[in-house]
Amino acid sequence: MKRDAIGKILVQQDDLQHRVGELAQEISNDYKGEEVFLVAILKGAMFFIADLMRQLQIPAQVDFMSVASYGAATGSSGVVRILKDLDSSIEDRRVLIVEDIVDSGLTVNYLLRSLQARNPASLDVCTLLNKIERRQVELPMRYVGFEIPNKFVIGYGLDLDQYYRQLPYIAELKDQEK
Ligand code: PRP
Repeated sequence: MKRDAIGKILVQQDDLQHRVGELAQEISNDYKGEEVFLVAILKGAMFFIADLMRQLQIPAQVDFMSVASYGAATGSSGVVRILKDLDSSIEDRRVLIVEDIVDSGLTVNYLLRSLQARNPASLDVCTLLNKIERRQVELPMRYVGFEIPNKFVIGYGLDLDQYYRQLPYIAELKDQEK
């Protein structure tokens, strides 16, 4: 496996698993007696959704969306293109968007608007990582795993040019300037 870009470990494997368990518990308590419809955003959320969902104690369904920004960076326009949409309706469902990271917030902002228009019973956001320093829009974030500094991070689903997603921990890129 490529290793040359792996810098300081930001969240160790054990801490990730522990926190994901806590989030699953919190969600299970909040949705007690109800069902949740998880909308995982590809590809970064793949390990998070798998670990989170396996620890939920409430009935849950999952579907996936894949989105891409127009232009080089999401931040350039804030306009997001849907590459893969949900397979089914979310009308009257309690929907939870599951993200690996919220950065500028433009992706989630778009998803919230797009999914709200489909009339879910409720719509909330769960992100493993929150890079609040980079936020460009104010967002309601119901569940946050970790607040992280403004550093490029890889692992546990997060990539550098599509590599490093398989790391079981979250690491900074090597040699990042402060
Ligand atoms: C990442 C992440 C969010 C988005 C966050 O996805 O999964 O969807 O960027 O950025 P924002 O808050 O600035 O909009 P990415 O486009 O890297 O795709 P990937 O998950 O397939 O790696």
